[in-house]
Amino acid sequence: MFASLWISVLLAVLCHPLLASAGTYSQVTNFGANSSGAKMYLYVPTSLKSNPAILVAVHHCQGTAQSYYGSTPYAKLADQYGFLVIYPESPYSGTCWDVSSTATLTHEGGANSNSIANMVRYTLTTYKADASRVFVQGGSSGAMMANVLAATYPDMFAAVIVYSGVPAGCFYTGTVNGWNSDCAQGKVSKSAQDWATQVRNMYKGYTGKYPRIQIYHGATDTTLRPNNYNETIKEWSGIFGYSSPMQVLPSTPRSGFTKYVYGPNLQGIWASNYGHNVPIFGDDDMKWYGIVGGSTTTTAGPSSTTTTTAGTTATSPPGSGQVQWGQCGGIGWTGPTTCVSPYKCTYSNDWYSQCI
Ligand SMILES: *[C@@H]1O[C@H](CO)[C@@H](O)[C@H](O)[C@H]1NC(C)=O
Ligand SMILES: *[C@@H]1O[C@H](CO)[C@@H](O)[C@H](O)[C@H]1NC(C)=O
Repeated sequence: MFASLWISVLLAVLCHPLLASAGTYSQVTNFGANSSGAKMYLYVPTSLKSNPAILVAVHHCQGTAQSYYGSTPYAKLADQYGFLVIYPESPYSGTCWDVSSTATLTHEGGANSNSIANMVRYTLTTYKADASRVFVQGGSSGAMMANVLAATYPDMFAAVIVYSGVPAGCFYTGTVNGWNSDCAQGKVSKSAQDWATQVRNMYKGYTGKYPRIQIYHGATDTTLRPNNYNETIKEWSGIFGYSSPMQVLPSTPRSGFTKYVYGPNLQGIWASNYGHNVPIFGDDDMKWYGIVGGSTTTTAGPSSTTTTTAGTTATSPPGSGQVQWGQCGGIGWTGPTTCVSPYKCTYSNDWYSQCI
C-alpha cells in the first residue's frame, strides 16, 4: 500500500511537467496579409475550451517566439484555462518590433501591427474563438507593441498588460524599426490631452471604447527610463478621462510594488526595486483579462471619453470591506479581508488576494 502510494506520488511529480506542456506549439504560415514579414506561432492546449479566449504574447528585443513561449508562464496558464496563445515573431535583425513607422502606428497601415492583427483574425476564424476576449501582453519592445496595438486596434483587444514599455507613439521616428533614444531615455513628455490625440489619430474616425490597460515599470530601469511609465499613465488617462489615482495600494501585488488604480480601465504597478526586468505576474494577468476570478468587464460605459472622477468607486464606509481591485489578503497584509458587494476576495498567490 505504501509502495503504491509512493508510486502515484512519483508519477504525479514526474508527469506534471509533461502534462503541463501537452498542447501543440507550431508555426502558422497562412494567416493572411503579412507585408512586414512577421512570423506567427500558436500554442493550442489540449484542454482548449470551445469559443476560447486568445492571448497575444509579444517578445522583447533579442527574443523569439520560441524563447518567449519558454520563458513566460502563458502556455502553462493556457493548459490550465483552455485559451490560445499567439506568439508573434519580429522579422528584424535584433528582433525589436517596428513601433516607430507611420505605417505601424496606423490602423490597417500594413506594418507589424497589422501583421499581428491578421494573426488574431486568422485565429478567431480558425478556432471559432471569442472576439470579445482577445488580450495582449508584452515585455519591453513587446510592451511597446502592446501599447501600439491598444491604440491601432482598440476594437480588437479587450485588455492589455505592458511590462516595461513606452507610450504608443513615443518611439516614432518615421522609419521602420527605428530606435527613438529621446523616448528610451525618458526625455519625451506630453500632456495627457496631446497623448490622447496622438492615440486617436492612429485610428481616425474610431469612436468606440479602448481596452483596459495595466502598466508595469521598474523604478530603476535604465533601458527605458521610468518616466516612460508616467507618460504611459498620462496617455491612457487622457483617453479614459482619469486624473489622479483613486486608490494607492502599497505592497501590491507584493512587497516592493505599489499599485495605482486610476479607474476601472487603468492601473499602474510601480516596481521600486526593479530595473528593466520586472517579473511577470501570470496569475494576476489572468485576473486582469477576466480569464479567472469572474468578470472584469469594464463598467465605465461604452464611450472612450468617459470621465470617471477619482473617488467614485473608491469611497466606502470604514469597516465595510475593500473596494474593487483592492488587496484583501496575502502574507503580511494587515488591511481589510472582506470586499464591498458584489466583489469577492479572490486568492491570487500567497502574497496577494484581490477584490474582483
Ligand atoms: C510572413 O512572412 C514571413 C517572413 O517572410 C514568412 O515566414 C511567413 O510565412 C509569412 N506569413 C504569411 C502568412 O505570409
Ligand atoms: C512616476 O510615477 C511614480 C509612481 O507613481 C512616482 O513615484 C514617480 O515620482 C513619478 N515620476 C515622475 C517623474 O513623475
